Amino acid sequence: MSSPRFLDGQAGSTLAAQALSEHVYAYRSLGAHAAPAQNIWGNTTVQSSHSPAHDPISHLHDALATRSLPSALLSSNALISAIPHLFKFAGSQAGLVIHVSAESDKNDSSFADFSKVMAVRQSGLALLSSSTVQEAHDLAVIAHVAAIKTNTPILHFFDSKRLSHEYTNVDLVDQEVLLKFVSKEDLEAYKAIEPAQAQTAYLQYKAAADKTPVNVYAAIQEIMVQFATITGRHYLPLEYSGHPEAEHVVVAMGAGATVAEQTVNHVRIANPDAKIGVLKVRLYRPWSDTDFLEMIPNSVKRVAVLEPSQDYTSTWNPLFLDVVAAYQTAQDEDVEIVSGQYGVEARDFTPAMVDAVFRMLAQSEFQRRFVVDALPTQALHVLPSDVKQAIIVGDEKLAHSFAQANLAQNKTVQLYTVNGASHLRVSSRKGALLPSLVSEASAVVLLDVTTGAAVDAIRSLAQGGFVAVQNDNLDGLSNGVKKTIADKQATIVVVDAQQVAKGDFGIFSQARKIQVPSSWTSLEASSAGAQVASSTPQANGTGKLPVETPYIKMLDQVFADRLEIANAVNSASIWAPDTTKPETASPEYGYGKLLSKIQQRARLIDFVEKAVKDTSAGLSADAYKALSQWVLVVKSAGAQSKQVNDAASAVVAALQSDASAVAKEVLAQKDLLSVKSNWLIGSDAWARDIGQSGVHHVITSGENVNMLIVDTIPYSTKVEREQRKKDIGLYAMNFGSVYVASVAVYSSYTGVLNALMEADAYQGPSIVLAFLPQLNADNSAVDTLKETKISVDNGAWPLYRWNPSLEAAGKEPFTLDSQRIKKDLEKFLERENHFSQLVAQQPDISKLLVSSLESDVKKRHEELKRKAREDYANLLAGLGGANGPPLTVLFGSDNGNAEALAKKIATRAKSRGLQVKWMAMDDYGDIQDLAGETNLVIVCSTAGQGEMPGNSREFWKALNGLVVGDINLAELRYAVFGLGDSHYWPREEDAVFYNRPGKQFDTKLETLGAVRLVELGLGDDQDADGFETGFQTWQPELWKALGVKDVGAEDDVPKLTDDQMKINSNYLRGTIAEDLADESTGCLQEINGKLLKFHGSYGQDDRDLREERKKQGLEKAYSFMIRVRMPGGVSTPAQWLAMDELADTYANGAIKLTTRQAFQLHGILKRNLRSTIRGINHSLLSTLAACGDVNRNIMVTPITEIPEVHAQVQEFSEKVMVHLAPQTNAYHEIWLADELVAGHAVQDYEPIYGPTYLPRKFKIVIAVPPNNDVDIYAHDLGYIAIVDPATKKVIGYNVTIGGGMGMTHGNKKTYPRPASMLGYIPADKGVIVSEAVVTTQRDYGDRTNRKHARFKYTIDDHGLDFIKAEIEKRAGIKFEEPRPFEFKDNADRYGWSKGVDDKWHFCMFIENGKVKDWPDFQPKTGLRELAKWHKGEFRLSPNQHLIIANVPEADLEKTKALLAKYKMDNLAFSGLRLNAMACVALPTCGLAMAESERYLPTLVGLLEQAIEEAGLREDAITIRMTGCPNGCARPYLAELAFVGKAPGAYNVYLGGGHKGERLNKLYKESLREEEILNEIKPIIKRYALERQAGEPFGDFVIRAGYVKKTITGTDFHDLS
Ligand SMILES: Cc1cc2nc3c(=O)[nH]c(=O)nc-3n(C[C@H](O)[C@H](O)[C@H](O)COP(=O)(O)O)c2cc1C
Ligand code: SF4
Repeated sequence: MSSPRFLDGQAGSTLAAQALSEHVYAYRSLGAHAAPAQNIWGNTTVQSSHSPAHDPISHLHDALATRSLPSALLSSNALISAIPHLFKFAGSQAGLVIHVSAESDKNDSSFADFSKVMAVRQSGLALLSSSTVQEAHDLAVIAHVAAIKTNTPILHFFDSKRLSHEYTNVDLVDQEVLLKFVSKEDLEAYKAIEPAQAQTAYLQYKAAADKTPVNVYAAIQEIMVQFATITGRHYLPLEYSGHPEAEHVVVAMGAGATVAEQTVNHVRIANPDAKIGVLKVRLYRPWSDTDFLEMIPNSVKRVAVLEPSQDYTSTWNPLFLDVVAAYQTAQDEDVEIVSGQYGVEARDFTPAMVDAVFRMLAQSEFQRRFVVDALPTQALHVLPSDVKQAIIVGDEKLAHSFAQANLAQNKTVQLYTVNGASHLRVSSRKGALLPSLVSEASAVVLLDVTTGAAVDAIRSLAQGGFVAVQNDNLDGLSNGVKKTIADKQATIVVVDAQQVAKGDFGIFSQARKIQVPSSWTSLEASSAGAQVASSTPQANGTGKLPVETPYIKMLDQVFADRLEIANAVNSASIWAPDTTKPETASPEYGYGKLLSKIQQRARLIDFVEKAVKDTSAGLSADAYKALSQWVLVVKSAGAQSKQVNDAASAVVAALQSDASAVAKEVLAQKDLLSVKSNWLIGSDAWARDIGQSGVHHVITSGENVNMLIVDTIPYSTKVEREQRKKDIGLYAMNFGSVYVASVAVYSSYTGVLNALMEADAYQGPSIVLAFLPQLNADNSAVDTLKETKISVDNGAWPLYRWNPSLEAAGKEPFTLDSQRIKKDLEKFLERENHFSQLVAQQPDISKLLVSSLESDVKKRHEELKRKAREDYANLLAGLGGANGPPLTVLFGSDNGNAEALAKKIATRAKSRGLQVKWMAMDDYGDIQDLAGETNLVIVCSTAGQGEMPGNSREFWKALNGLVVGDINLAELRYAVFGLGDSHYWPREEDAVFYNRPGKQFDTKLETLGAVRLVELGLGDDQDADGFETGFQTWQPELWKALGVKDVGAEDDVPKLTDDQMKINSNYLRGTIAEDLADESTGCLQEINGKLLKFHGSYGQDDRDLREERKKQGLEKAYSFMIRVRMPGGVSTPAQWLAMDELADTYANGAIKLTTRQAFQLHGILKRNLRSTIRGINHSLLSTLAACGDVNRNIMVTPITEIPEVHAQVQEFSEKVMVHLAPQTNAYHEIWLADELVAGHAVQDYEPIYGPTYLPRKFKIVIAVPPNNDVDIYAHDLGYIAIVDPATKKVIGYNVTIGGGMGMTHGNKKTYPRPASMLGYIPADKGVIVSEAVVTTQRDYGDRTNRKHARFKYTIDDHGLDFIKAEIEKRAGIKFEEPRPFEFKDNADRYGWSKGVDDKWHFCMFIENGKVKDWPDFQPKTGLRELAKWHKGEFRLSPNQHLIIANVPEADLEKTKALLAKYKMDNLAFSGLRLNAMACVALPTCGLAMAESERYLPTLVGLLEQAIEEAGLREDAITIRMTGCPNGCARPYLAELAFVGKAPGAYNVYLGGGHKGERLNKLYKESLREEEILNEIKPIIKRYALERQAGEPFGDFVIRAGYVKKTITGTDFHDLS
């Protein structure tokens, strides 16, 4: 069944590997076992040898991918660098076994150092430890069997010297026996398992909750039992021997455990009452607390955990921590646990030492941590009397012959050679012999008397033993040996090798003796042999180690010479920075240092590269070769650091003897030749303000810099709000391109090492967040352990890794190493998961998503980079890094141009090293402070008519009030840049208003004696690039004058475009939700403000209150406007009531009916935004897409001449609206969901718009002739309904495109444009055409310039024919000739009209659409009363009036009575008033330059007089007014229009078509009221007198020559 062999442990495990795997990967010599072998399933086991130096065990992946069964033979020295692979194996369900001999760094030690094996204890592999040579074979077998049966990779380890090199009798398990454990079927079953499916981290996390993990512990235990039944050799995962009521127990692993076991057995034979025991740990991972506690007798009082490791956590050893944790879990605090370390100085671990440990435990005073070697020992011999011992020095072969001879006699032999001395034991019994060095040898054979080993060997000779030599010449013996021989009263005998080879202990007594000279007794022995040091580990002393020590030690362990820690190098600790140089602890300090190193190295690479190409460099052949090789390696992408560093050493060696200049230069920088692992070490303080801490810098730099941030704050402590930390991990992961790991040394040591290695390998920024809670001053291991355990267990400190290089390789970048995670992390993963899922399910959209996501990440990165630069500049300024001269930049600005320019100057100045302050002029303190300034720049725009902008008036007043002598400005150097518009006031005499404020500042400062740095700069809106044109020439002069012209400043990144903003917004989310929650301000951040428009709301401020609030130091009176989107302006009475109530509850009490048939509420405070929008949605209306770059509300003629038509066009409008509605979930998430969610990036998909939506707003209308009330020509897309009068059915539409009103004063590239006719389409093609038109604009619209982005410009840029063809192609239709139609006017139909069946409509007059109660007129109350019982609809008209629609005949009288009661039936207004329309403008509209809604009624009143005098009271003249050229009330289609230019001043337009079909033209600019009346009254008079029959006012003014007829948009500005 078993065949006995004489083997060492290494061979024992190799044979098991060969028998039970298909491929043996050897990372060490296979020695005698290199020959091909067969496995138990009858196949040849493939064997391959590899170097342990480069990326060990990476080869195993190939085997695992095909599910063949591999095993690996390894030394523990290669383990650390194999960690990343181990992690992968752990997740691979592979039946892999790795046999590891645990090396000690000390050559002469007889025992192992387990620290490297311990370092991988949390890699997820099972760990089995052998404690005898027989076990090295048996547990190897068990490991293979368990690995195959449980699909778990197993690491089997044993002491390198003691077991792997100890030869003894080993019973090998025969192949047929092995087949009983794993049959061929078992193998096939194993192979049949599909390799683990790639799953997203989120799904793995979710699945883990339901999964019952394989109980590897139980499985191994079962296999051990089966093994015992078949082979008779019993093993347990944890095995106790000793007194059943032991009070003192030693816990140990490996050969040391066997020493302890044999000691305990021996002591108990002599004294059965000794209450001692030993627990041998064989299965170390998975570790079972329960089994451990069960194995140890309950009587135990003290436990000593003995380990042969110098653990790098430096404070506590790993097995000790496991034992502590077990008792802690069991809440057993009575057992005292101590930690002992052996093999620190001593080369052997002996029974006497174990005995010393028990004696120490028995004392009342004992050490918690101790070095076993240092305990006082007493002689103790545990070997049974039949065991014979000898040492043969100088001939290992002979020792083997000696052993073989004994084996032949059926003896049990143990042979172990260390330092040239072979220790032999021979016993007639079976079973493992003591794995300690021989100590009472009956004979020492000195074949080589000169070796140092002779001294040790003689020391191990028993009193009166034999010393055998080959001849009589003893001269070679050292004095020490001689003296010891004499002291031990040894007998010297002469033997020859052949005699010894017979293995007979009897030969010594029979051999010829030599007399020991008596002089030897008195010889002085030189100090020889081992001395036991009495040192104790550092941490045992009183001096506390710096907090970060464990982590720094780990860095050292992993990277050794390559390690470069950039900050705090001179400090005792990050937590206790060097007080003389505190900055050295800061990340910026280290970061700067690292960056400069990286750059220096890049320069060196360049230098060398050039040098090797330069034939005249005079390099020797060797130097040339070494340098070329180095460049090659350094520049190859996949080069490993070891390769580079080898090449670097070669360079240094080769250059030593090279006299060239190149060699000198390179040698001077030889440090830079090798690759370093660059680290910044930081404390958790860095997490309080990521932006300021430098963490953000590293993240955004893209450089290969690693950060280790140690978090010491226990999660059980509460922290103040401002002390609260940001989640750096999440922050960094969101970038996608930063390696992030969250680790905890007391939870997973291996995890930390792995993360450090991955971070180092990642070619970009990495952040390793490491947890090390410090609870109190004398932080005990138990406390730290407990706190770590709790935090990891409850998810407060999750263990995870985010490796972007995996993502690049198409793999899941996130690995979760702990069970539970924080909510926000879960959400992050959920988001990532949604993305993966979506891509998997809908590959066709994946491209779009991927590209948008990529650009999303990229854009985010760009944005953050920009921010980083700013921060950096701030930082420099703050750190005093800016040592340039001071500069103060002051601005005066109404609408932001001058402010932005001032900011630009400030930023650029900062990056040039100046110490900059910048602010609005009125924010500048005392004017007298100017005397203390060095350099001053003023940037000021022009407002009103040559006036100061609002935020510079006070400053100007104060400055202007000074006269020479009031202030000494002799030291002040200044520069002024003014912004203005040379055409704003076009009359020649108004030229003085051009840029007046700028000029005023410039002169005033000069007068007061300040020194001009540069000539006054002027920016003019009329220039090609607006004010930028002037600025570009002025700016260099400024830098020159300040002496910083050539300072290498980075140019600032261009402002985020609207498209970038949209992409970054993640489908319109932005951070609106966060902004809403911010109670510190009433407004939103700029970008969120823009995004908010898509949600139907604008931020505004009450401009009436601006100045007053400013004086009081208050922020502007911010509020919000909300617009409701409802096609055709149709609402139900219930919806009316809802609006009515919301207007009172949250808004300013008024309902505004807009020019585009929508409701608007004004004056809503930020805190009420959500409630208002919810309320609106509750009433089944929506605000989504009421504003923004999307299709907005669709207008429909509200009362049609053929009543049946309305329902059809209304239904059509609803279909188009639904079809073109944005699909983002953001709206729902932000406003309606109960929980605010942080962004489900990829759930969203905009089939029509894509992530950048449209270049600009888009407006659609449907007109039913003869009404053009909707103003078809003012809209991007218009449908003119063509009705079959016979059937009263809408059979189709004439389609128009490209209408639009907005323009900018003085900018001729902007103009209003009347829509163009495309042709007729059948009604059923309406929707598809809308999509075709919208997507054409989406794809061809100008996204570079918002002023040129409307569809009208797209059409004029590309030509109508092209656009038409594109639409036809996209819609798959051909436009037919337009069908005939006729419009009569673009006015509303006031009064009663008949609807379908018995229904009636009443269109009432609401001046400027304002529904609110006045003292003498209360439509708001009236309409509320009506809405309570009205059964029809409320329809908003296109001209801001209201239609009470579908009043059943039965309610007619009641309705009329109510209308009369509230004077709402009053239509007795002049034709002028009935046809007048104004936009909102002041005080809420941010763009307004003049009053509109509040002023038009007055102006109409004044004009009415003229009209009445002319007898034209009933005549309809369309008159429209807007506060700015944006044109919300469609002024450019009116017969008479006023467009605000400055407060009280309007441009006057004449000649629009009465049917809304023709644009008007500028008649006079900037007229004030009186001028308006003076100009217009005579025209009206003439019109009354001279008009032809039916001639509208608009036509008349053209005929009369007041203005030229405007044909289309491009000639709108053509006045000649
Ligand atoms: C209501 C108004 C009045 C203006 N009046 C003048 C003026 O009188 N003289 C002038 O040169 N520019 C005038 N401008 C042009 C502005 O000064 C110019 O557009 C400038 O770039 C605006 O800068 P800001 O955004 O910092 O206010 C006026 C602009 C507006 C909107
Ligand atoms: S036209 Fe100008 S002032 Fe009037 S509401 Fe529109 S943007 Fe505001």
